This record gives sequence, structure tokens and C-alpha cells, in this order.
Amino acid sequence: MANVIIVGAQWGDEGKGKVVDLYTEFADVVVRFGGGANAGHTLVVGDQKLITHLIPSGVLRGRGKRCVLAGGMVIDPKTLLEEIAELKSRGLLQDDKDLVISTAAHVILPEHREVDRLRELGKNAIGTTKRGIGPAYEAKMARRGVRMIDLIHPERLKELLLRSREELAQYIAERGGTFTPLEQELEESLAYGQKIKRYFTDTSSYVHQEMTRGRHVLFEGAQGALLDIDHGTYPFVTSSSTIAAGACTSCGIGPTSIDAVIGIAKAYTTRVGGGPFPTELGGENATVSDAALGEQLRKVGHEYGSTTGRPRRCGWLDVAALRLAARWNGMSGIALTKLDVLSKMKRVKICVGYKVNGREMSELPCDINEIEGAQPIYEELEGWDADTTSARDFESLPTAAQRYVRRIEALVGVDIGLISVGPARAETIMIKNPFR
Ligand code: IMP
Repeated sequence: MANVIIVGAQWGDEGKGKVVDLYTEFADVVVRFGGGANAGHTLVVGDQKLITHLIPSGVLRGRGKRCVLAGGMVIDPKTLLEEIAELKSRGLLQDDKDLVISTAAHVILPEHREVDRLRELGKNAIGTTKRGIGPAYEAKMARRGVRMIDLIHPERLKELLLRSREELAQYIAERGGTFTPLEQELEESLAYGQKIKRYFTDTSSYVHQEMTRGRHVLFEGAQGALLDIDHGTYPFVTSSSTIAAGACTSCGIGPTSIDAVIGIAKAYTTRVGGGPFPTELGGENATVSDAALGEQLRKVGHEYGSTTGRPRRCGWLDVAALRLAARWNGMSGIALTKLDVLSKMKRVKICVGYKVNGREMSELPCDINEIEGAQPIYEELEGWDADTTSARDFESLPTAAQRYVRRIEALVGVDIGLISVGPARAETIMIKNPFR
């Protein structure tokens, strides 16, 4: 039996969808534990391309893989139902038992999306996905949130919707925003509840029982460590716990049940939305040659957000930040993705620390002003011209690419157990499988 947590080790979009999909071959239950429809997994299987926002990519493996949405998530019921319908139309999710949704997960209301949108118009915008994630978690923490179970209790739901209006009315009115009329919102929410209730379960108890039966459980994180609400580049973060410990709190299982934590890292770095990004190749002050390298990464790596379509900011691999992710997550292995995108670079750089106000630092500072002024210290390695997409074992990679991978391992102090060299399932070098 193995229970494995998979998390993003950078600022999200590390290619978790593909890696989770690969590992789900060995798992019986796949649990999504954080965030909501701010995430987007692009999955390529055969000639099919599919983007999921809420349902874990385990769903692609077909019947019998149980996909769980845990209690720590914030779920937009409309998006959820659209996703279910899309999956069903492709012949997936045919058995209702394959989808398990926590009654304790919080509901994203239309006014949460509206507040998110209005905030992003203001001077304190942080470049959110405008999916209402922050306002839904705020309502949860303020203990006035709507939970999935409330969608099937009309009286209670009406009370909660009235409370939500009371809290948000002034903010929305002052900025010229609108509410969905109460009766309409109530009616729609109750209709969603009727459609979704067949999937409702106490997911803590469900996952615990599955573990007791000796089934393999894979916990799938969303976003990345540097977007974590407690540890990331605050305030330019998401509103949930994106690190491995978040799987335990979200799902109500103890850390001693976990056997391995795999951090997914791209062979370079990307970030979407605002906030500091020391190794960025681009932005206002970039040299022409750096901006061209950033553009090359974006083009070759198809670096556009799968949720919002925004172009992602691209830069060199930041190992100093990756070391932080290794510590916060207790990472036992790394899955390195998109190595193929670096082919044809004459030289490749790895950030090993920063200069901050004349001082050398080996880790990203906590103070946002200091992070914004951090100048990366680079180690430069020889690049490789050869194509890597056909490599199926480590030794088939060009020597310079092998050196790059080994250097990352040495600098982070964690072994790389998987290397992805293309979007397809087969374009993978599996070195160590955490389920075996
Ligand atoms: P929110 O999660 O929509 O509130 O957005 C907060 C920050 O997290 C913004 O910078 C977003 O671009 C970023 N973010 C949220 N979800 C993802 C993701 O799945 N990938 C990458 N960035 C994300």
C-alpha cells in the first residue's frame, strides 16, 4: 500500500496533470485537495486533449478509479456540472461511484466571482484567475460560507445567501457591481444541489476507509508551493494551502498515513499573474536577449494559462526557490517536466541564490520588498542541441541534459524520479515510481 501526495513545487502550471495521470495507473483513489476552478490541467491522451479544472486527472483512466474532491476545496457548482457533462459526453465518468464530493467543501457563489472581478479592477490587483477563489475562502474563514451540504437545505441556504448579501452588498454596490437576484440564485443553487447530491460523501471517512482496505491513494495538489497562502510570495499567492500538509488538513487524514511526497518542477520556471519572479526573462527591465529567451520558452513550451489563456511569464530554473519547496513539502522525490523545451539553448542557467541589498542569500526572503529587489545568482551550464523527446531512459538523454538534471538533484538534495520530455504519456523517463 502506498499513499502519495503530489504537489506543484513552483508557481503552479508545472505539468501536474500529466504526471498525476501517469501515477494514477498505480492508484485506486485520486483526491484533489485544494483550491477550485483556478487550476487547469491540460491532459493529452492519444489524439484527445482535455482540460479539467476541478475533477482530478485520474478520471481519464476510466471506470473504477475513484476521484475525490476533498473538503478543503472551494467548488463552483456550475463549473463542476459543466465539467461532469463534458467528461460524460466523452464516455468518461459513466459510473456515479467514480466521483466522490465532500459535503464540507465550500461553494463559490456568483457574488464571490463578482467581488474577485471588482478587486482586480483596482490598484491592489494581484492578477487572480477571477474565479471567486479568494472571496469564497474569506467567507469560509469568516464562518459565513456556504458548504456543499447546504445546497440541499432550502431554508438554511436562503439564510446563508441573505447573510452573504449583507456582508458584500456595500462593497459590490460602491463599485458598480451586481448581484444575481436572490430568488434566482436560490433556485439555481438548489437545482445544482439536486444534481450533485448523488456524489456527496464524508470524504475524510471515505478516504480513511479506502486506506484501511489497503487501496493506493494519490493526493493531487493544485497551484504550487510558492503560491501557498502561508509560505508563498505573499500577498501574491492563492488563498489555500498548496503544500503537502494541505492534503492532510483538507481531507482530514493524519500525516503518518503518507508514504511519499513528490514535487513537480518544470525544467525552467513560469509564473502567471502578478508578483515577484527573480529569474524572469522578460518584464519591464529585461534586456533584448533575455526577453527573446523568455519568448522562446513561452513559444516552445506553449506557456499560456489553461484556465485564463494568459501568457505565462517565463524564466530560468530557480533552484534556490525549489529548495524551499522541498523543505515546506518534505519532498521525497522530484518529477522534472518539460525538459524537452530547453533543447536548442546554447547555455542554460540555474539560479542558486540571490543578492539582496548587497547581501548574498541562499533562500527567497520573506519580506515582499526584499523579494522584489532580489537579483539572482546564476550557475551557467552548457546547453544541448539534440532532441530529447524520444529518450525513454536517462542514458539516452544528451550528456549536457544529463548534467543539468544531476546538477539540479545535487543543488536541491532530492532525487529526480521522473523526467517528462513531451506532453504524451509515453514521452516520459520513469526512474523511480513512488507506488512501487
Ligand atoms: P486565485 O487563486 O485566482 O485567487 O489567484 C491568485 C494567484 O494565484 C494569481 O497570481 C493566479 O495567477 C495564481 N494561480 C491560481 N491558480 C493557479 C494555477 O493553477 N496555476 C498558476 N497560477 C495560479
